[in-house]
Amino acid sequence: MKNVYICFLLVLFVSCQQAGEDIVEANFEFAGTQLRHALDEIDRAREQESAEDRARREQRNQGPLANPRTIETDGSLQLVVSRDWTSGFFPGELWYMYEYTQDPFWKEKAQQQTALIEREKYNGGTHDMGFKMYCSFGNGYRLTGDASYRDDLIQSAYTLITRYNETVGSIRSWDHNSDKWQFPVIIDNMMNLELLFWAARETGDRRFYEIAVQHARTTLANHFREDNSSYHVIDYDPVTGAVLHKHTHQGYAHTSAWSRGQAWGLYGYTMCYRETGLPEFLEQAKKISEYIFTNPALPDDLIPYWDFQAPAIPDEPRDVSAATVTASALYELSMYDPANQHLHLSRADKILENLTHSYRATPGEDRGFLLLHSTGSKAHNSEVDVPLVYADYYFLEALLRKDNLKKNDTALLN
Ligand code: GLY
Repeated sequence: MKNVYICFLLVLFVSCQQAGEDIVEANFEFAGTQLRHALDEIDRAREQESAEDRARREQRNQGPLANPRTIETDGSLQLVVSRDWTSGFFPGELWYMYEYTQDPFWKEKAQQQTALIEREKYNGGTHDMGFKMYCSFGNGYRLTGDASYRDDLIQSAYTLITRYNETVGSIRSWDHNSDKWQFPVIIDNMMNLELLFWAARETGDRRFYEIAVQHARTTLANHFREDNSSYHVIDYDPVTGAVLHKHTHQGYAHTSAWSRGQAWGLYGYTMCYRETGLPEFLEQAKKISEYIFTNPALPDDLIPYWDFQAPAIPDEPRDVSAATVTASALYELSMYDPANQHLHLSRADKILENLTHSYRATPGEDRGFLLLHSTGSKAHNSEVDVPLVYADYYFLEALLRKDNLKKNDTALLN
């Protein structure tokens, strides 16, 4: 009986501690430990690159091994070159560390890791420009006002719009799988529009704004189903603009709802509403949010399985990255949807609390990543139940948004 009583007191003590804990401060302290460790791991991984890999990288003129992406199946850190779609997230995390702590150490590290991917501003071979350049150079410019970052971002935006097709009304996402698709556009591409809205404001060139709005409208027209879930890939005829295929690439089935895709859509339409004030975008964001949170396949802790229709739920891997993107989006959505403000905030808070208490990496380990249990592409048996750098980036962003909302509810994004 005495033991039961002691256990009860212990549980009460831990719960009170958790309730009183400043989740933002605690996580930034944790992130400081992890990211310092990650910087050491980066040095080690560069030294351990094999002679063959180095020769191949140099022969292909791919630039240096730049930033972490995940942990390989053999336990080693995967570093990517700049052209990888994830190359901007680690510098982005360092910028968020600088933003929160104001410690020049993080600024210097962020500058170093950002500089390694500058060449991407000329890479017109993919739609991933926003992911790479806006998360790194975009945050760097916002926090430092460095004019060279502004120039890099403007060049990036001009490069990105070379992929726009006026007849389709969209920016082409991928050039691969040309035997399958003629003009594939993926829901993820909504995220790259933020760079274009920024460039429209900075340069006064309306083309950036018009292309971003048209892309969002075309996606709204063709990517969504009756139940407001979205397809992953829509393939268009580049000559007529007709929809040719409604497919998936990383989801379970063409007809299923790949979890990260739903999160990209939610974040993308919320951001588009911020940038345009167009009610159609806010409505879409609200509908996506309802799809996610009323879905019976969403677990009680609000961390989704990798696909809402994954066949073996509940024995399927989670995707923490979908949860962090969703949480960050919900903090912003809460500002534009007063009728449901409390609901959006409580869902975002619950995600962050559950991530903090049940999904975090071990301090000083896990190659410096923050969160475990993301899934890159289960459909390709790739990056299943691993840490992923973009899960960590949106985790820190969500924490900052929560903090900004607490301090000043109109200054979420500065
Ligand atoms: N944009 C690629 C992904 O979400 O996996």
